[in-house]
Amino acid sequence: MSVEKKLDGLKEKEHLADLGGGKERIEKQHKAGKLTARERINFLLDEGSFEEMDKLVVHQSRDFGMDKKRIYGDGVVSGYGRIDGRTVYVFAQDFTVFGGSLSGANAAKIVKIMDLAMKVGAPVIGLNDSGGARIQEGVASLGGYADIFLRNVLASGVIPQISAVVGPCAGGAVYSPAMTDFIIMTKEISNMFITGPEVIKAVTHEEVTMEELGGAETHNALSGVAHFAAENEEEALSLIKELLSFMPNNNLEDPPLRETSDPLDRVSEELNRLIPEDPNQPYDMRKIIREVLDENYFFEVQADYAKNIVIGFGRLGGKPVAIVANQPDHLAGALDINSSDKGARFVRFCDAFNIPLITFEDVPGFLPGVAQEHGGIIRHGAKLLYAFSEATVPKITVITRKAYGGAYCVMASKHIRADINYAYPSAEIAVMGPEGAVNIVYKREIDKAKESEKAREAKIDEFREKFANPYIACEKGYLDEVIEPKFTRPKLIAALQMLENKTDKNPPKKHGNIPL
Ligand code: HXC
Repeated sequence: MSVEKKLDGLKEKEHLADLGGGKERIEKQHKAGKLTARERINFLLDEGSFEEMDKLVVHQSRDFGMDKKRIYGDGVVSGYGRIDGRTVYVFAQDFTVFGGSLSGANAAKIVKIMDLAMKVGAPVIGLNDSGGARIQEGVASLGGYADIFLRNVLASGVIPQISAVVGPCAGGAVYSPAMTDFIIMTKEISNMFITGPEVIKAVTHEEVTMEELGGAETHNALSGVAHFAAENEEEALSLIKELLSFMPNNNLEDPPLRETSDPLDRVSEELNRLIPEDPNQPYDMRKIIREVLDENYFFEVQADYAKNIVIGFGRLGGKPVAIVANQPDHLAGALDINSSDKGARFVRFCDAFNIPLITFEDVPGFLPGVAQEHGGIIRHGAKLLYAFSEATVPKITVITRKAYGGAYCVMASKHIRADINYAYPSAEIAVMGPEGAVNIVYKREIDKAKESEKAREAKIDEFREKFANPYIACEKGYLDEVIEPKFTRPKLIAALQMLENKTDKNPPKKHGNIPL
């Protein structure tokens, strides 16, 4: 056979692979408001950088007439390329081929790039759009899932893993994205659930739509499974790029620096006016965060879930930092089950990937309530305490107002190895708030007084005067400095620079036992 003919043969095969499930199914995909797997990859990666692997893989199934239906690529497009010049590995399930369902062969493609990513030390991005296990393949498909799950776990904390869910993702299939670091879902198109509406109706008689059960809004606002809800696929893919810009390629590297024109010594008069005089008046902690970060830019993560804690990324002097902050605007910033989980997982991600933790603290304590206690706030709150305690990245804390009770200890206090602890003059640090404290400590005295309400008020004032300030903690060295709020940015940048070469270690162990 001539060289030309051989080349034509290759081109023909590649053309067939490019077509996936064929023109009709591609049109159907577009009509559903979705891009194809290759369109997604092209949008995500630097132009022309995609190198596809295993383009001509086909499934090995012989049952149910599958031997007559073999499509190159077998329902997933995989390979490597670059984002902002950095190597990443990517797989995109191709819904036009057997509904993107996972076969033994297509799982092996995903496993192959995951193994390479681990050897090279580069992130893996998964674009999920699949009907789940390839029904015709039975256990070969289930085994393929388990092969991927294992790699998700082994890669966790070694290379960043990011998932976009841009179509269906059902049954056990959800556990691969669930074990990655971040999940982005597209609104009204994607869904994730273990059992669908039909099964739920049959078993529990509950009626629910696919969107209500497992849509982007549900998983962003209610379940906390997802981290971002994108308006469309372009936004979802752009979010992946942005997320990566704050992360290193692997756990042995530092996150990438970005030049900033924002002066390192910029003071912000606005910050001196942000904390309300009335200690019970709420304010938006994000205003402080934005005021401090480079270009006033804060990239919030899980913005719709457990709003009493705010997490996200920003930069200080060009260096990526992670922000964890109580939010007085929501539940007065009290820590509850969901906010503890949200904060803990984020802290652990950042610690694994060498991203310094900046904590802004205004917390009246843990949220009281039977539902919280019965829901296991003890166990969940312990996660946040555990995560902050084991973190060895630079840790800097700013107490803006309240730091009460156990929450004082938990929110990156000096005692659990924070490196630099600042407080504003408005800080209040005590075992509990003045109202609660006097009712316990001076109960008898107040009850005996002729005008008990007046006596109570007087004791509250006395208590506030004595404890509701940062100076006792200062005297003990638990705080390093009380700062004027307007200097927060230069103070944080100086502390970060000082901590640049910080090394700290936990005792050797197989792994700890975080209260799950
Ligand atoms: C094989 C599948 C498939 C699957 C879809 N297809 N899911 N083929 N295995 N799991 C095929 C369809 O036959 C169809 O082929 C094409 O993909 C598109 O599917 P449609 O149904 O036409 O698309 P749509 O109407 O958009 O519905 C999408 C869907 C539905 C909601 C995902 O296909 C569906 O319910 N699929 C089954 C989902 C499911 O129960 N999966 C198993 C979950 S359990 P043609 O040739 O007509 O284009 C699971 C366990 C994992 O995954 C365990 C891991 C440990």
